[in-house]
Amino acid sequence: MTMHGLFISFEGIDGAGKSTHISGLADAFSAQGRAVTLTREPGGTPLAEKLRAMVLGDAMDPLTEALLIFAARRDHLVNVIAPALVRGDVVLCDRFTDATFAYQGGGRGFDLDLLSTLEQWVQSDEGLLGDPAGNSPMKPEVETVIEPHLTVWFDLPPEAAAVRLAGARLPDKFESQPLEFFRKVAQGYADRQRGHPERFARIDASQTRDAVWQAVRQVVVAKGWLS
Ligand code: TYD
Repeated sequence: MTMHGLFISFEGIDGAGKSTHISGLADAFSAQGRAVTLTREPGGTPLAEKLRAMVLGDAMDPLTEALLIFAARRDHLVNVIAPALVRGDVVLCDRFTDATFAYQGGGRGFDLDLLSTLEQWVQSDEGLLGDPAGNSPMKPEVETVIEPHLTVWFDLPPEAAAVRLAGARLPDKFESQPLEFFRKVAQGYADRQRGHPERFARIDASQTRDAVWQAVRQVVVAKGWLS
């Protein structure tokens, strides 16, 4: 049971402006006959959306926050992402584990080694395609860690993002954090890119919306995934 779909995640600090480009890419893939699964984190399943509401709405200590985010991620992987990849869909995910490294790791200062352990554990394909005990005949021979094939990182200086966010809808727990928090989140993304240069594509999100779209499209075209 191979996962022959495409998994693309989208990242950036709040206000970086990823949403319109994610739907633009979904339309572009659909127009070329690909089945698209458009989803987000935290969230993407009924259970994970409940966990999202807690994570974005309630105060909690950093370990609780990280565990809830990874619990939501496991449910999302089991029920949405892995089945879609097996079907051969293009999975477009608004944020994934790099956000945990940037927000909980960079922003909150949570231990990165512990986040790596959780990442290996939660994103293992063990039991993902079969029963939770991992006894299914669909269980892969070799355990692998599922991660995006490509991560499009909308890089925007935190000062510019703050201007874009000002006056927007009511801010959630993260959006209402001070500029200093977003400086650390942005640094968290930069560090994560350095660790995974082959997977990350950095987009200069301070350009005009159209220039950003052209840059995003170009990354996917260069991969040979869109013509
Ligand atoms: P976001 O994806 O920006 O959605 P919206 O556009 O609806 O605000 O909001 C999700 C928030 O959750 C964002 O502030 C980042 C935060 N987050 C984390 O702190 N850790 C994570 O692992 C993920 C996926 C998100």
